[in-house]
Amino acid sequence: MLTISAIPGDIAASDADAIVVSLFDGTTSLSGGTEIVDKALHGAISELIAEKEITGKHGEITMIHTLGKLPTKRVIILGLGKREKLSANVVRQVSGSLGRYLKRIGAKRAATLAHGAGIGGLDAGTAAQAIAEGITLGAYAFVQYKSKKDDQPGNALEVLEIIEQDTGRMPSLKAGVVKGALLSEAVSIARGLVNEPANVMNPIKMAEIASEIATSAGLGITMLRREDMVEHGMGAMLAVTQGSANEPRLIIMEYKGDLDHPDNNIALVGKGITFDSGGISIKPSGGMWEMKGDMAGGASVIGAMHAIAKLKPKINVWGVVPAVENMPSGTAQRPGDIIRAMNGKTIEVDNTDAEGRLVLADAICYVKEKMGAKRVVDIATLTGAIVVALGHVTTGVFGTSQSMVDAVLAASKVSGEKMWQLPMFEEYRRQNRSEYADVKNTGGRPAGSIAAAFFISEFTGGVEWAHLDIAGTFMAERTQGHEVKGATGVPTRTLIELVEQLAAS
Ligand code: BES
Ligand code: MN
Ligand code: ZN
Repeated sequence: MLTISAIPGDIAASDADAIVVSLFDGTTSLSGGTEIVDKALHGAISELIAEKEITGKHGEITMIHTLGKLPTKRVIILGLGKREKLSANVVRQVSGSLGRYLKRIGAKRAATLAHGAGIGGLDAGTAAQAIAEGITLGAYAFVQYKSKKDDQPGNALEVLEIIEQDTGRMPSLKAGVVKGALLSEAVSIARGLVNEPANVMNPIKMAEIASEIATSAGLGITMLRREDMVEHGMGAMLAVTQGSANEPRLIIMEYKGDLDHPDNNIALVGKGITFDSGGISIKPSGGMWEMKGDMAGGASVIGAMHAIAKLKPKINVWGVVPAVENMPSGTAQRPGDIIRAMNGKTIEVDNTDAEGRLVLADAICYVKEKMGAKRVVDIATLTGAIVVALGHVTTGVFGTSQSMVDAVLAASKVSGEKMWQLPMFEEYRRQNRSEYADVKNTGGRPAGSIAAAFFISEFTGGVEWAHLDIAGTFMAERTQGHEVKGATGVPTRTLIELVEQLAAS
């Protein structure tokens, strides 16, 4: 476990295993803590800059052994990139690389400057939060199934001190550290759930973990079982689960932050398909393993609820996860089946692989009709088409409420999790028309992600609704900055920020 703190003082006096200073790309005259450390090293940093050994380019890491010139054994110089391009996200990214570097050299205790808060011009709290998030998330590893000792987190960083001379900045630095540590915890929860294989992370296991988190954080928790789904007429969710040997759960975590105003609420609904084989419309086997992460939306909701419980915003929040496995079997639903969702609408199941929208349909009907949700944001690894449109960089945002969409986009600007709105022009709606039922669960190849959003919108009448398609962003193909190959935990931090912003407005 990493403990991060902000303490007043002079970084050059620190006897940590390593101290971390930084500089911008193209800097020739040093300032602040970096200058002080350079002086103590008799100008070693300036000399390396003059020799172009150190450039300050984004993510550059240079280590100098102090050989007795300072109480610490090592000085690390971190490149922040061009000064005019500095942002919280840059600090988060370079801190991610730093986190892995500190782990590699076996540093247990490190001290760092609040990169970006000095001449970088970032607010001290923002900088501290970004450092805490970057270092923690960049050093994240999913290793519990690795037997060898060197894969285990034995040599992980244990203490990180953000050292600042200006005592006036301490309160915001401290607040930033606390928030950054909490958000990292939330993201790590989400990543862990996604990285777990589907033989472990089935709907019941997901429900158990949500329940443990709820209990320890003081949240309410309710679970709907198959019988309850039958009672509520959740034919869409039941149709998806009917091919699986694993029992489904509708998980509902409840945070009450504004008891006097029950309508001041939001439901975060995360797709929780613990494995998506495609069902009878089975997927090709290559890359199918990735579908163990088809519950990434649900995972981000569970992670976010953990943090929301501790941040205590003045708003009521439900975290809702329809947890279901999509499998082919003799009891599975078939293409052509017609099913009835909780709101009475009939659905022609053209393709059993378009299962996410089916479970979301019933979950959204439930939060509207049974819980009185006024605002709904759903998060889902919904379509391969969003990967074609936006690649692995950007989450697609949709919605029938522009103010909800705007709120999501504003939150994503703060979190640094990239998002972009796609249109919901009425002309697309007809793609989901069915010959035999009220609506069909596929909309053809053109604009597949928009058609999917339109399908969900058949079940969101009467609430302010936004939808996030994270099929391109839930997994990282490579380790870079604060992201580690595997689950990203996106959009956990955006959800937390969104709830805080809504509570404050
Ligand atoms: N879970 C998948 C979407 C997905 C694809 C997520 C790639 C992550 C990475 C979803 O359930 C799905 O299979 N969607 C189909 C819908 C189609 C049958 C209309 C798709 O996108 O191919
Ligand atoms: Mn599918
Ligand atoms: Zn799916």
